[in-house]
Amino acid sequence: MQPVNVGLLGMGTVGGGTVSVLTGNAREIARRAGRGIRIAHAAARAYDPQSISGLDRIGRITDDAFAVVENPEIDIVIELIGGYSPAKELVLEAIGHGKHVVTANKALIALHGNEIFAAARERGVMVAFEAAVAGGIPIIKALREGLAANHIEWIAGIINGTGNYILTEMRDKGRDFADALAEAQSFGYAEADPTFDVDGIDAAHKLTILGSLAFGIPLQFDKTYTEGISKIEAQDVVHAEKFGYYIKHLGVTRRSDAGIEMRVHPTLIPRRRLIANVDGVMNAVLVKGDAVGPTLYYGAGAGAMPTASAVVADVVDVTRALTTDPNNRVPHLAFQPDELSDIPVLSMEEVETAYYLRVTALDQPGVMANIAGILGSEGISIEAIQQKEPEEGDTHVPLIMLTHLVREGHMNQAISRIEALESVKGEVVRIRVEHLAG
Ligand code: HSE
Repeated sequence: MQPVNVGLLGMGTVGGGTVSVLTGNAREIARRAGRGIRIAHAAARAYDPQSISGLDRIGRITDDAFAVVENPEIDIVIELIGGYSPAKELVLEAIGHGKHVVTANKALIALHGNEIFAAARERGVMVAFEAAVAGGIPIIKALREGLAANHIEWIAGIINGTGNYILTEMRDKGRDFADALAEAQSFGYAEADPTFDVDGIDAAHKLTILGSLAFGIPLQFDKTYTEGISKIEAQDVVHAEKFGYYIKHLGVTRRSDAGIEMRVHPTLIPRRRLIANVDGVMNAVLVKGDAVGPTLYYGAGAGAMPTASAVVADVVDVTRALTTDPNNRVPHLAFQPDELSDIPVLSMEEVETAYYLRVTALDQPGVMANIAGILGSEGISIEAIQQKEPEEGDTHVPLIMLTHLVREGHMNQAISRIEALESVKGEVVRIRVEHLAG
């Protein structure tokens, strides 16, 4: 059988890895796909020929990405340019020309996926995006296919390697935030704009996709609550550990009777949980299904070869399904498009979770009682409490508390009232706690 002709957009880190994997493992990939897969036409403004093996096997290289999507010989377009524009225009044009699309672009899918999938359905083509979430971990395949029998209850994931590296270094080596970030950037994992990593935007893109796949709702990036890690202080890492927790930057999506939670924020997780021990740049996604129970997926969330592994797996999947009836393919968002649900995404005020609080308060009689009184009057129950001795010459001490579950709206009220106390200095530090019990 003739090989499938692939058009490649972008030969940066992931594009270069994709060339290397497709050419290096060509024989094995053909045995799996049922036919050869050939990069017939690639577009790149600049690339490093020294770091990409197999360049000589590419049919043609141009700097005009639109020439690739318009090339009638191309069956599948792989979009690895990233960002919103011109990636969106290129993907829509490729679909318009009847080509299937494989992309690693999480921002594109999270923000424009509904429109892109609708266009693909209309044209009867596939859009595959395994590499968009957690790099080399086949979590999209797991959710769409392997767990298709389950009512998914919740997902919690460490889905940004840069952030996880920073938090791990702060905990293990006591390094400060900026120093750890600079090193993470040197690994080439960080987004072009590193605020996407530290502010949680990259993780929110990925969580938006996971939430839709888990619960069969349209992609709603604008409703995903996003909080970064830049306010985490070394002392919070130490206090958390003393209580038996590690701090991770977690994406959580959970279904409750009221709606769906979609939130990215620093989170205390019990140290005994496997996911709490996922360190450095590694990613992990914990999925709780009603039939299967908890399942954990672990691996490299970024990097040239791991991400290329996911891209090429999608190309193989698309190749195998080229001749299938479009109505019998795995739906883009796991559920049939006319079965997507309008169950609401909850605001953060409506979410129920537990909390770590650090209050800097005067070391005087009655102060703790006042704070506990405010928490009690908002219906917040304290699970554990610790007061540090004051530093030499300091009149204030940190009070650390862990609470039981409470709605965030009540916690916001309590925090405002505590911050208004004369005996309390500065802002109350609040970090959410998830026990992730199976
Ligand atoms: N900047 C991302 C990370 C790359 O650090 O995980 C993969 O999406």
